[in-house]
Amino acid sequence: MRIRTWASLLFFIIGLSMTGLGVGLALAQEATPEPTPEAAEPPPASDAYCLLCHSKPDQVWHLPSGETLSVTIDPGLLARSVHGESSSEGALPCADCHPDFRYPHPPTTAQTIRDFQIERYAICRNCHEEQYTRAQDSVHGEILRAGRLEAATCVDCHGGHDIQTPDEPRQRISLTCGRCHGAIFEEYQDSIHGSALLAESNPDVPTCIDCHGVHNIQNPTTELFRVRSPELCAQCHADASIMDKYNISTHVFDSYLTDFHGSTVTLFEQQDPNVVTNKAVCYDCHGVHNITAVDDEGASTIRANLVTTCRQCHPDASLDFSAAWLGHYPATMDTHPVFFVAKQLYTVLTPIILVIVALLIVSDLFRRFRQRMSGSKGA
Ligand code: HEC
Ligand code: HEC
Ligand code: HEC
Ligand code: HEC
Ligand code: HEC
Ligand code: HEC
Ligand code: HEC
Ligand code: HEC
Ligand code: HEC
Repeated sequence: MRIRTWASLLFFIIGLSMTGLGVGLALAQEATPEPTPEAAEPPPASDAYCLLCHSKPDQVWHLPSGETLSVTIDPGLLARSVHGESSSEGALPCADCHPDFRYPHPPTTAQTIRDFQIERYAICRNCHEEQYTRAQDSVHGEILRAGRLEAATCVDCHGGHDIQTPDEPRQRISLTCGRCHGAIFEEYQDSIHGSALLAESNPDVPTCIDCHGVHNIQNPTTELFRVRSPELCAQCHADASIMDKYNISTHVFDSYLTDFHGSTVTLFEQQDPNVVTNKAVCYDCHGVHNITAVDDEGASTIRANLVTTCRQCHPDASLDFSAAWLGHYPATMDTHPVFFVAKQLYTVLTPIILVIVALLIVSDLFRRFRQRMSGSKGA
């Protein structure tokens, strides 16, 4: 009995010390972790590390082409950008856009500054896949793939570090396109649409992207674009909630559709939108980027200039020819008295004649019915 007690006590003590040893070993292991493969890679570089050199003034990079690029970075610019503190996901660290960067930097194949920008913009895809995919199918994406490096990429329109909300203020949109499309921008800024946007940030007039799209801009000189273009204008010009503010008639679209020009263009689209049409679309008469008020002195649409507009396609058009056109408005006693009177007569006379004809038919039927009744009585 005694020996047994001693023995179990001994085992208990041994057991206890073994457990203690185990715990001790485990603790020791935690204090000096085994080197795992992940931990072997250094953590992403901190912004402070990059800024050690890049916040120093007058840092320049000499590219193989002989160009120089300032590599001094203002961290405030990033902080105030869409990727800065205001971002829903917090400020982006440098390493999100420049992964695997340490000093000395990984070798680059860029020869020129433009090469470098084209190489770097691909990083935007990591988080903005949707815009990136669309941009590949756009005119800009196409010509870039064809080797024309002057095409617009993400960083041309948005910037690399100093990215701001792209549509605030609204003028920013057209100003962005205007950086490369200078001649069109100049026409646009004097047009009724562009001047209202640039002067008063008018929210109702079209910016470049209302007509062209943004990331998926397509070639606007195709037949398809031409045939569909009246719908582009109709987005706004058939919408009374916009046009009433400016006292502009919304009949312009439906009157166009019933006009010989519009009805043929619509027919074309229904048959095959790629068929070439030479019929007038809105911009043949009004212009595209240089649209003015219709009573503006230089307007292609005022009566004095109208015949020139028509002669683009009706070379023999006389002054009477253009004057006979009803335009977009219903005819009135003042503008087209003959047509107006004829139309009024039509609207009044047509139902009257219909009623008379109906009465005649009814009375005829009634007479035949009575004749039959008296005939059958006589028999
Ligand atoms: C020890 C100083 C130093 C550090 C640290 C440093 N850079 Fe640079 N960086 C330079 C210099 C100098 C250049 C100019 C090009 C050259 O001489 O290699 C440069 C060029 C660059 C360029 C343009 C050229 C290229 O290779 O793409 C980028 C982008 C850049 N650095 C990003 C970073 C980022 C991001 C970090 C932090 C992860 C960082 N740098 C850390 C010194 C440094
Ligand atoms: C949103 C992504 C993004 C972030 C965040 C970012 N960069 Fe850049 N960086 C770019 C792109 C894109 C370029 C390509 C050139 C351009 O701006 O068009 C660039 C260019 C550079 C250049 C070359 C000089 C220049 O201005 O073109 C340096 C140096 C650089 N970055 C350093 C940094 C440092 C340091 C940080 C962090 C403080 C940082 N970047 C954060 C995207 C980013
Ligand atoms: C690491 C992920 C990441 C990368 C890389 C990145 N972005 Fe962003 N971007 C974001 C986040 C997150 C927001 C903020 C969204 C928000 O605030 O709701 C944002 C916002 C934006 C916006 C503003 C969107 C708006 O609705 O106002 C633009 C424009 C933009 N990014 C362009 C770029 C461009 C150009 C590049 C490449 C130079 C780039 N981004 C690279 C994550 C990223
Ligand atoms: C030709 C100029 C241009 C190019 C190129 C361009 N953007 Fe934009 N982007 C804009 C404009 C303008 C807007 C504002 C759109 C709006 O208000 O409807 C915008 C909007 C955005 C937005 C906000 C969300 C949205 O879709 O409206 C993000 C994010 C963005 N762009 C990222 C990118 C990225 C990434 C690339 C490159 C793949 C790119 N952009 C290329 C002009 C451009
Ligand atoms: C970085 C310069 C740049 C910016 C910014 C830019 N573009 Fe372009 N764009 C080009 C170049 C280059 C072409 C090709 C022109 C050519 O082939 O003659 C082009 C072509 C086009 C075309 C097709 C022209 C055709 O004849 O097929 C349209 C439409 C267009 N851009 C609209 C826009 C709009 C809208 C914006 C603003 C949202 C814009 N672009 C911003 C450089 C730019
Ligand atoms: C009201 C709609 C509308 C607006 C706003 C508009 N465009 Fe256009 N744009 C068109 C139409 C329609 C065409 C096709 C004209 C043609 O084929 O003659 C066109 C053609 C173009 C072309 C190619 C043809 C050429 O002449 O080279 C470019 C580039 C272009 N626009 C850029 C712009 C830019 C940049 C802006 C803003 C400053 C802008 N557009 C504003 C409707 C518009
Ligand atoms: C995004 C909406 C929008 C689109 C798209 C648009 N417009 Fe306009 N347009 C307006 C507004 C708003 C005004 C009045 C501007 C003002 O008076 O300040 C206007 C004015 C005009 C005027 C001058 C009318 C007058 O007062 O004499 C003409 C003409 C015109 N647009 C033709 C067109 C044509 C043609 C198209 C298509 C190629 C078009 N618009 C596309 C919104 C639009
Ligand atoms: C872009 C070219 C174009 C412009 C500009 C144009 N037209 Fe036409 N117009 C046509 C074509 C093509 C037809 C033939 C339609 C058909 O056969 O269906 C047509 C048909 C007509 C017709 C029907 C009778 C006829 O001669 O076949 C009249 C009337 C007419 N246009 C008046 C005008 C007036 C008025 C103007 C100026 C305000 C004008 N057009 C501007 C292309 C144009
Ligand atoms: C055949 C030439 C022609 C075509 C095609 C044409 N217009 Fe007009 N438009 C005119 C003329 C001319 C005027 C001047 C007023 C009038 O006499 O009807 C005018 C007037 C206008 C006005 C000013 C209305 C007002 O209340 O002040 C607008 C807006 C307009 N057109 C838009 C359009 C739109 C949108 C289209 C295409 C759906 C279009 N136009 C097609 C010739 C044309």
